[in-house]
Amino acid sequence: MSDTLFDMGFEEARARHKALVKEILHHDARYHSDDAPEISDADYDVLRKELEKLESDYPELVTKDSPSQKVGSAPSKGFKKVKHAVPMLSLGNVFNKEELEEFLTRVQKFLGLSENIEITAEPKIDGLSCSLRYEKGALIQAATRGDGAEGEDITENVKTISDVPQKLKGDFPDVLEVRGEVYMRRDDFIALNKRQEEQGKQVFANPRNAAAGSLRQLDSKITAIRPLHFFGYALGDMSEPISDTQWGIRDKLSSYGFVEAQPAALCQNAKEIMAYYESISEARPDLNYEIDGVVYKVNLLDYQERLGFVSRAPRWATAHKFPAEKAVTIINDIDIQVGRTGVLTPVARLEPITVGGVVVSNATLHNADEIERLDARIGDHVVVQRAGDVIPQVVSVVLDKRDSNSQPYEFPKTCPVCDSHAIREEGEVAYRCTGGLICAAQAVERLKHFVSRLAFDIDGLGAKIVEQFWQDELIKTPADIFTLEERDKGNLTPIRAREGWGDQSARNLFNSINERRNIEFNRFIYALGIRQIGEATAKKLAATYGDLSNLRTAMHKATDHESEAYADLINIEDIGPAVADDLIGFFTEGHNLELLTDLEKQLDIQTYEAPSVGGSPVVGKTVVFTGTLEQMTRSEAKAKAETLGAKVAGSVSKKTDYVIAGTDAGSKLKKAKDLGVNVLSEQEWIDLISA
Ligand code: IVH
Repeated sequence: MSDTLFDMGFEEARARHKALVKEILHHDARYHSDDAPEISDADYDVLRKELEKLESDYPELVTKDSPSQKVGSAPSKGFKKVKHAVPMLSLGNVFNKEELEEFLTRVQKFLGLSENIEITAEPKIDGLSCSLRYEKGALIQAATRGDGAEGEDITENVKTISDVPQKLKGDFPDVLEVRGEVYMRRDDFIALNKRQEEQGKQVFANPRNAAAGSLRQLDSKITAIRPLHFFGYALGDMSEPISDTQWGIRDKLSSYGFVEAQPAALCQNAKEIMAYYESISEARPDLNYEIDGVVYKVNLLDYQERLGFVSRAPRWATAHKFPAEKAVTIINDIDIQVGRTGVLTPVARLEPITVGGVVVSNATLHNADEIERLDARIGDHVVVQRAGDVIPQVVSVVLDKRDSNSQPYEFPKTCPVCDSHAIREEGEVAYRCTGGLICAAQAVERLKHFVSRLAFDIDGLGAKIVEQFWQDELIKTPADIFTLEERDKGNLTPIRAREGWGDQSARNLFNSINERRNIEFNRFIYALGIRQIGEATAKKLAATYGDLSNLRTAMHKATDHESEAYADLINIEDIGPAVADDLIGFFTEGHNLELLTDLEKQLDIQTYEAPSVGGSPVVGKTVVFTGTLEQMTRSEAKAKAETLGAKVAGSVSKKTDYVIAGTDAGSKLKKAKDLGVNVLSEQEWIDLISA
């Protein structure tokens, strides 16, 4: 194996060292100051390793300000990955009383109840969620949420937090995962920033960033001197239940030695919930920790179990967010960004301003209609707001302050990137670039989407690298990613010789690309970046069609709206005529079909397997519910069937495996009988799935 570093002359090594130091310091700052790293931990490690190697070959390059000499950025392999035994979810939102009432009604309807349901209300802590695993009462692992399925192992760091019991007190189950929020108190945050400033170190934008930066230190000695705290609020994996209610979980967690966020309330109806919300809104400025809203949870755990999840959030809980924080600033310019589907999005470039503790210098203006509605113009004073992680928005124009010479903004009729016409289709708000893949912006954005976390998720091939490789014509289409290594071999300036790269990092990149040649079908569909096809819909398509050739054939047939293929497509939950048209459109366009063929040559796309519902007799079966069910509501039945890996359709066809007929079943039952489809009573269905 050749190693370029050995062949390097000293002068060359010195130049490389200098460039590396600069780059690493830059990433350290991004990582530590605002917890907004630009590169993955793996990419960062590659840089660190190259630096180490260089310094061990040429010790004279080691200076006292080399990143290798600094505590707090000690060389590390990064954090180990941890798969969550029970996924860590996010929460849906409500923003006002009406939406809260809708949430309550939805829960009631789902459960088929007419009486009010008890709800717990507690502060929504603005920190970082964390899962703590206890076995026989001892803390054995702590993990960040990550993408919900897999997080990072931060056990050593979490062990330095005094609120986190190392050993549980009292009577606890063998296995227990406690979920909660790591946060920093306001007074501690102010004191920490003061210290940081005095020592010439980075100051943090807000307590949340400070907590994140402190928790994700690679060196736990640093975490130990940062004042972090923990509130427990939910459970993950456990060997036996510890309570029947959410309220009971709070008590249990306290008895084990955890701290519970106060005040909390057990509410009987919307009125009591709103009273809690109002009182905590008032108390908010006096709390010593930041909260960004309130979390409501169905109290009875039996109900929680029945309600289950939709996509990434539980049906049994929601967050009531505080209204967005606002500030006034000036629009310096309006830029147009082009997304991967060609949508032109206007972005206001703002005079930087602090809104709710974060500096805002850009805000979305959404689309041409919105600019017109606001009559937003360059030079205007505007009110901007940000709510949580949402992109800052321009809310209104301060007309009193408008310059008398100002002109209305004219939305461009051509794409700012490729100059193709920008058109607005009927019924659409967005202008779209008609350039397709000849448009650099669309091509690059599509590539970025293709490698993004929920798609191909290729280690070391983040958005930045994709952009560079695109500009240098190394990767122009998704398929190019998989021929990169082969082409690199004959290249006069191979990747390992590029600035910031080396033998090892190039090899790592090829390895991680090769690992992804084997890809799940649902990820593959999502990666294609078809309009309106998000992660959840991609899964449904994968579950319905199983593999690419089936999907392609079906979409081809579905171009005929009278066909059975079209009816089947529309029958899939979440797919209405508009989504169906985007899908069919994708599969009928020549360059997309070419792309699929090219990708197929490179990839091993796995046939979709329904999520681990081992042994469920209804995996992959298509079922239709009809008539009135007695033991559960229709939504509940549907959700349950889907969790077990079945597909729930709205109408009966030859492809239906089971029709579950409640009382008063009508035409669907008749059709099932005509077609000879298996008909089950509600009880037979329950017996089948609980077998
Ligand atoms: S419960 C399945 N309770 O909010 C429900 N989450 O926006 C799990 N959060 O990821 C969450 N305070 O990090 C819950 N009292 C609280 C919370 C809380 C803060 C965070 C949590 C979650 C995020 C969702």
